Amino acid sequence: MTQKVALVTGAARGIGLATSKLLIEQGWKVAMIDRDASELAIAAEPLEQGFPFEYDVSLPDDVDKMAEAVISTFGRIDAVVNNAGVADFRPLAETTFADWRRIMETNLDGLFLVSQATIPALKKTKGALVNIASISGLRASTLRVAYGTSKAAVIHLTKQQAAELGEFGVRANCVCPGPVRTKLAMAVHTPEIIAAYHDAIPLNRYGTESELADLITYLCSERASYVTGQVIAADGGFESTGVGLPALRG
Ligand SMILES: NC(=O)c1ccc[n+]([C@@H]2O[C@H](COP(=O)([O-])OP(=O)(O)OC[C@H]3O[C@@H](n4cnc5c(N)ncnc54)[C@H](O)[C@@H]3O)[C@@H](O)[C@H]2O)c1
Repeated sequence: MTQKVALVTGAARGIGLATSKLLIEQGWKVAMIDRDASELAIAAEPLEQGFPFEYDVSLPDDVDKMAEAVISTFGRIDAVVNNAGVADFRPLAETTFADWRRIMETNLDGLFLVSQATIPALKKTKGALVNIASISGLRASTLRVAYGTSKAAVIHLTKQQAAELGEFGVRANCVCPGPVRTKLAMAVHTPEIIAAYHDAIPLNRYGTESELADLITYLCSERASYVTGQVIAADGGFESTGVGLPALRG
C-alpha cells in the first residue's frame, strides 16, 4: 500500500509537532515545515518518518520552493495541516500596522500561500486541508484585534476552500483550539489569564497538544471522508457556553 504523505507547518514544536508524531504513528510520512531551523532539526531527529524542511510560510518565494521540494522528495501530498501561527496580545490603539501585518503574514497570508501551492497535489490524491484557527476566531475578546481577526479569516477561508474544492474530492476543515500550554500560549497568557480560563472552560482545564493532534489527524484521514467545510472547536466546551456568567452557576 502506498504510504501517505502529510505536510505540517509549524512542526518544530507545540501542536504541529504533536500532530506530526501522531500522523507518523498512524503510518504517514510527514514533511515537517518550520522557519526555526535549530528547533526543527532537534524535533525531527528522532522521527524516522519525519522529514524537516526549513521554510517561512509567510514568504511567497519560500512557499513555492517548499512545495517543489516536498513534491520532488515524496511525489505526492495527501494532507496539508496549516498550523504555523504567531500570537500577539495588545489593545487596539497600541496595535501598529507593523504588528497587524506580522500576525496576518503568518496566520492568514501563510495559510493562503501554502494552500495555493499544494492544492494541485491534493487534487491528484483527493487529499485534505486542515486549517488551524482558534477560539479567538470564534469569540471576540480584548487584546486580540489582529490575532482574533486573522483566525476568523482562517475560518471563512476554510469554507471558501471547501466550497471550491469539493468537486475535486478535496476536503477542507478547520480546527479551533482552546488554550493549550505551548510556547505560543505561555508567551501571552499571564497567571491571571490561566486561572480565568480554568474558571470559564466547562472542563476546567487547558487542552493538551495530543488532544488537538487526535482531532487534526482524524480530519486528515479517510475516516473523515464525508466531513468538509466544518469548523470544530477542541476547547473543553468554551465556545459553546456563550453566557458563562459566574452568577448563573449553581
Ligand atoms: N496554544 C494555544 O493555546 C493555541 C490556541 C488556539 C490556537 N492555537 C493555534 O495553534 C497553532 C499552533 O500553535 P502552538 O501553540 O503549537 O504554537 P508554537 O509557538 O508552540 O508553535 C508554532 C510553530 O510555528 C512556527 N512558525 C511560526 N511562524 C512561522 C512561519 N511564518 N513559517 C514557518 N513556521 C512558523 C514556529 O517556529 C513554531 O515552531 C497556531 O496556529 C496557533 O495560533 C494555539
